Amino acid sequence: MPTFSLNFVLLLSLIFISGAEISSKIGINYGQLGSNLPPPSLAIEMIKSMKAGRVKLYDANHEILRLLSGTNLQVSIMIPNNEISDIANNQTRSDEWILNNVVPFYPDTMIRFILVGNEVLSYASDRDRHVWTDLVPAMRRVWQSLKAQNLQIIRVGTPVAMDVLETSFPPSTGTFRSDIQRTVVAPMLEFLNETRSFFFVDAYPYFPWSANPMDINLDFALFNGNFEQIDGGSGLVYTNLLDEMLDSLIFAMTKLGYSDIRLVISETGWPTTGDIEQPGANLPNAAMYNRNLVKRIVAKPTIGTPARPGVVIPTFIFALFDENQKSGPGTERHWGLLSSDGSPNYDIDLTGRKSSVEYDPIPVVENNVPFRGRLWCVAARGVDLMELGAAVTDVCNGGDGICEELMPGRECYEPVSVHWHASYAFSSYWARFRSQGGSCYFNGLAEETTIDPSSGLCRFPSVIF
Ligand SMILES: *[C@@H]1O[C@H](CO)[C@@H](O)[C@H](O)[C@H]1NC(C)=O
Ligand SMILES: *[C@@H]1O[C@H](CO)[C@@H](O)[C@H](O)[C@H]1NC(C)=O
Repeated sequence: MPTFSLNFVLLLSLIFISGAEISSKIGINYGQLGSNLPPPSLAIEMIKSMKAGRVKLYDANHEILRLLSGTNLQVSIMIPNNEISDIANNQTRSDEWILNNVVPFYPDTMIRFILVGNEVLSYASDRDRHVWTDLVPAMRRVWQSLKAQNLQIIRVGTPVAMDVLETSFPPSTGTFRSDIQRTVVAPMLEFLNETRSFFFVDAYPYFPWSANPMDINLDFALFNGNFEQIDGGSGLVYTNLLDEMLDSLIFAMTKLGYSDIRLVISETGWPTTGDIEQPGANLPNAAMYNRNLVKRIVAKPTIGTPARPGVVIPTFIFALFDENQKSGPGTERHWGLLSSDGSPNYDIDLTGRKSSVEYDPIPVVENNVPFRGRLWCVAARGVDLMELGAAVTDVCNGGDGICEELMPGRECYEPVSVHWHASYAFSSYWARFRSQGGSCYFNGLAEETTIDPSSGLCRFPSVIF
């Protein structure tokens, strides 16, 4: 009898430990690229009151790690991209990183994941390619440092974007990019398998859907229909786009001989608003996506994906707050469950218990079809004139004849006002560089308009959609 109960207790604690490690509780990405965000102490309170189970940081901010101590939140911290090469080349650097950023906080702060860099494999400059080959050696060093501290409960990974795949549709064709498959991905999978770690992926159905809104069913992207798609290669049946994306990674890993590495969704979500030409970025879709996502991820019994039914996928929603200091298209600044002042953008229950009819209805927004027409990029109203003037100087000094029409005597010189000149310069720049990724933002000084600002002989360049 004593033996039995001892074994029983042991068994229970084993179940408890492994259960805790792969809890299906929803995590939240706590990014801080905002000039107007609530202080960390308040942010942590918000995360707790939202009943999240995990939080993921983009650094190892000591104040935040201290504030997380004694909470029930499992924590994921990150080594910045620019430290990867140093760590890859120097075990002491790795040991120091763990001694400075983990040891002082563990176990009161429940650090569970250390992510080495962020989407490192998505960058293509020559400088970054060095980091590609340093990535796995750095991950090995960090694991070595953790072992030296007896901290193997913490797992080492690195988040990748879906662009690590060369082919992803249908899922059974999933294959890693040929420029990284042998040099980076294969050694990484070997490491993840050996250390029983996870493959971390940032998976956003919003991106493939918004790039092909007429070809992909919106309800399929929002987990919201009876729509089914059969993968002819595997015979598996898909009911939503996220499952297809995840399974394409599973097929790609399996082709390299690793069929058991577990997935973590390190980021997913849906933007609440964006630029005029960005379809589908709206409150109803964001609420629908994240509410349905939560229900699916926390469901008991666990759903998993068609290729891996019943397997838990720890998931971090992006993001806690809207972050106004992110550059790029308008959606980039509007992924928050909360607005930048901390008020909810929409009601969401991260425990997944609330049924869809219990949520307050959200007014319908009609931007689910692509915008067709012309857009101009003009100076926003009410912005600081000094900043605007500096922006005009920057844009016009960039050359390429962007501001030629603004020269004295030319068609757009008058009226000689900062606002007018800025509007012309922004429109001209955007019309020239949008195809190369330029956006109409200019640190919040610019906004898009459907109204042609041209006047007299001065014609403003536009972008045609
Ligand atoms: C490794 O890092 C340590 C600590 O930062 C430093 O003192 C040492 O000089 C480095 N070694 C090499 C070979 O760069
Ligand atoms: C993955 O790890 C398991 C368990 O350690 C091992 O049995 C298996 O051979 C590994 N797979 C590969 C392809 O190395």
